[in-house]
This record gives sequence, structure tokens and C-alpha cells, in this order.
Amino acid sequence: MEKCTVYTEKCPEIHYRKIGDGAPLMLLHGFPEDGDLWRLIWDALAEEFMVLVPDLPGSGSSQFIGERVTIDELAGAMWAILDAEEQKRVVVAGHSMGGYVALAMAEQRPEEIAGLSLVHATTAADSDARKQLRQRAINHISRGERDSFLKDMIPNLFSPVFREQEPMLVSQQLERGLKLPSETLIAFYEAIMGRPDRTDVIKTDQFPIQFICGKDDTIAPFDTLVNLADLPAFSFVSVYDEVGHMSMLERPDSLAADIASFAATCWKAVINYKYE
Ligand code: MLT
Repeated sequence: MEKCTVYTEKCPEIHYRKIGDGAPLMLLHGFPEDGDLWRLIWDALAEEFMVLVPDLPGSGSSQFIGERVTIDELAGAMWAILDAEEQKRVVVAGHSMGGYVALAMAEQRPEEIAGLSLVHATTAADSDARKQLRQRAINHISRGERDSFLKDMIPNLFSPVFREQEPMLVSQQLERGLKLPSETLIAFYEAIMGRPDRTDVIKTDQFPIQFICGKDDTIAPFDTLVNLADLPAFSFVSVYDEVGHMSMLERPDSLAADIASFAATCWKAVINYKYE
């Protein structure tokens, strides 16, 4: 694994991991995580692809770029990585908030997307009710109650079965979440609240879309995602039983295989691309 950094005016230091050779596959983490979220699947994917795993600005080793950051700016930072790598096209897999960033990337430069994998991520904007919940969370965090917010939130990202069978993995994930500074958590929630509906982005025949769904996901319910799968010209859907919002930890082998087969299909479809 190579540890890399790009420097841009807006995002002074963005760190990412680069693993393997081949066609680029970018993995974007969600909230409240960093790029290590993908640690159980990146080696398997790197057997076929050049896997790029950033820490979104403000998480992991990447520098915080201010409390007014938007999902579009996070997407711009991801293009800065691909530009630095001199890649003209990419398959992007985004988990939840990472999916919102991936959708913004696809809106910004659709011709440079070879495929878009939405891993437990919807295309809709936040409802008013969801915004109110997030504002309550922001208020808690601002009052210094970050730890109790994360202790309530993180276990609920997993299916009940996984929580019972793998309590160590759930508490490790909580430990990782607790490393994120309050300012980042607040900035990410505000960015998520401010994002527009991007359902139109997936009404396309320009690149295939993959939907990864957990039957027990309460954040991105599987029936909502399955309904979205009617919209693109080319859709790939995986539904995992007894999985919540975190298939990269709950069902890593299935997720790695499904993303690999999707990305291989996307790259084979790219005209003139010499896929090996
Ligand atoms: C995530 O996993 O990134 C968040 O749960 C996204 C969200 O709350 O919308």
C-alpha cells in the first residue's frame, strides 16, 4: 500500500491510500468514518484494480477544510486525487455519505465516470424530519456530547444479528468513530443536510449504477434503494439478508465480490479500454 497526498488550494492536504494496479476504483467512506472503513475488502479488490481510498477532508489524516464544506467541495477534492493520478475515468463506490459525494462527482464530470456504486446510499435529499434529527445531533455535539451521540448512533448502523454475534467489531467501529473531531462531525452533517436531491444523476445510460442494500439497514432502507434501481439504463442490485448499513464489515466477502464484478463489467464496457 502506498500512502499518497494531494495539495489543492481549497483542500490543503488530502491523504489517500493506493493499493494495486489496473483500472482505478475509488472507495469513499461515510459518516462517521475514515478510509480505514474499507480495510477488510481493499486487498481483494486490489487483485484486479488500482484501489484509491481517501480520507475525506477532516477525517483520518486529511486536513479539515472548514465548517462550511459542501458535498460538492468534497467531490471536487476527490477529482483532485484523480487528476493527480492522471486518471481519465474511474469507477467510484461510495458508502452512504460517500455515496452522496460520488453522486456529486458524477454530476460534475459524468463523462469521466465508468461506473457508480451506491453502497447503502440513497439519491434523495434529507426530508425535513431527517434535517431536524441532524440539527438535534449537531446541538448535542456542540454542547460537548459527541461521545454519547456516537455511542447511540454507531451500534445502530449494524444489523441486530451482527451486533449480537460481533460485539468486538461494533465496539472497534465506535472507537474509530470517537477519533473524529467534533468540528468534522458537525461539518459533515451540515454538508449532508445541504445536499440536493440527485436522483436525476442516476437516470442515465452513460455509465452503469450498482445498488448495495442491507435488508436491516435503517438509514438507507433496502426497498427505497431497490425502487431506485429502475431508473438507470444499466443497474446492478445486491440485497444482503441480516445486514444493516455496514456490509463492508458485516459481509465483506460478498461486498468485495460484488463490487469487483461490477467494476470489471464497467471497465469492459468502456470503449477502447484495454482491460486485462
Ligand atoms: C453515513 O453512513 O454516511 C450516514 O449515515 C449518512 C446519513 O446519515 O445520511
